[in-house]
Amino acid sequence: MSNTPKIGDTDLAELLARAGRRIRVGIVGGGTDSVIGGIHMLTHRVDGLAELVAGAMSIDEAVALSSAEAQLISPERRYTDWRRMLEAERIREDGIDAVIIATPPQVHAEPAIAFLEAGIHVFCEKPLASNVEEAERLREAADASSALLALNHCYSGYPMVREAKALIEQGKLGAITLVEGEYGVGVGALLREPEGDAPKHWHFRPGPMGKAVVLGEIGSHLHHLAEFVVGDRVRDVRAELQTIAPRREVFDNAYLSIGFEGGAVGRLWSSYVAAGQEHGLRLRVYGSEASLAWSQETPEELRILYPDNGAQIITRGSANVTAAARDATRIPPGHPEGYVLAFANLYREFFAALLARLTGDSAAARVDGWLPTAEDGVQTLRLIRAAEQSNGEDTRVALSSV
Ligand SMILES: NC(=O)c1ccc[n+]([C@@H]2O[C@H](COP(=O)([O-])OP(=O)(O)OC[C@H]3O[C@@H](n4cnc5c(N)ncnc54)[C@H](O)[C@@H]3O)[C@@H](O)[C@H]2O)c1
Repeated sequence: MSNTPKIGDTDLAELLARAGRRIRVGIVGGGTDSVIGGIHMLTHRVDGLAELVAGAMSIDEAVALSSAEAQLISPERRYTDWRRMLEAERIREDGIDAVIIATPPQVHAEPAIAFLEAGIHVFCEKPLASNVEEAERLREAADASSALLALNHCYSGYPMVREAKALIEQGKLGAITLVEGEYGVGVGALLREPEGDAPKHWHFRPGPMGKAVVLGEIGSHLHHLAEFVVGDRVRDVRAELQTIAPRREVFDNAYLSIGFEGGAVGRLWSSYVAAGQEHGLRLRVYGSEASLAWSQETPEELRILYPDNGAQIITRGSANVTAAARDATRIPPGHPEGYVLAFANLYREFFAALLARLTGDSAAARVDGWLPTAEDGVQTLRLIRAAEQSNGEDTRVALSSV
């Protein structure tokens, strides 16, 4: 940690000075009618590397315009359709460098592909798309484009999650054997389906993802977190998907028994009906020599458990953390950082990569390494399809077969 924001050896203030300007950003979705838009408004600004200059911020025209106005976007760059935004911005001399896609999953692939094809970088909300085919088309577009795509699995931005990944890479746990992940929430409208015929949020309607929206919404984070920390891909799954809340039309609870390419086995539990749990994202990883445990509600701590030497608690910002955790740390220990800064870490790496490209600095390759990719997103859509197939056929399903 230092007073000068850095990623690895890259001094971000110096990088910004060399670029001579901030990254110009547009956003699709994320209006005042959305859940996640407000967090994007905070987090993309945290490091001052980017400025929001354009937006097609809602499906509702009035909300799109008022949301953009509230962000002080100039009137001619407040759009009511993302296609119009793309057409106009691509020919402006001061057009956007990057776009944030913060729409529901069925509105990710089409805009993301179009922006990538125009050479505009994409910061895409998870899950990457609403099905495997869309996700693969988007991955192909990202591979073919000179522009960068990052996927917003924001929990991978926590310093102590990166510490966990680094310690596993260093072999501190030995060979990985078991992975236990859970993301069980159960408050408000997640826990209980409302009475009456009021229109349901898309979280609770069957859609292009079928009935497994809980896996797209929260299971996708859990899957990415497990693969990110362990450094291995899930190979196959056996799933049980349930609908617990009365009157609910989609699955709201999912037990996934998984196998990893490298031989580890594990369980991923995703639920909207874990009554009273506010967030409930936790990961434990066991190896032949030791295990580790991390929880999103106490994110400053990573517990390492040794069979003969008890537990060690590593705290964010302490002197003994790895460079991976140190680089993701912004403020001294004892001053909790939390979700907003973890989320902002992904933005910082994304914008730093784009600034590095503007200046022709090869640091881009280094910062790219942390950002969740289109391939990560494709794997999640495969897991969801395989889980649905497994649930329907009562059999174990390889992700490569779907
Ligand atoms: N990273 C996280 O921690 C996190 C948390 C919550 C949601 N998300 C993800 O963010 C995305 C959005 O989720 P949400 O809960 O905010 O959804 P939401 O339905 O509350 O909001 C979606 C927004 O997109 C807009 N929109 C829809 N179609 C559009 C279109 N064609 N053009 C322009 N705008 C359009 C809506 O008007 C609204 O502003 C989802 O992919 C979700 O999974 C991520």
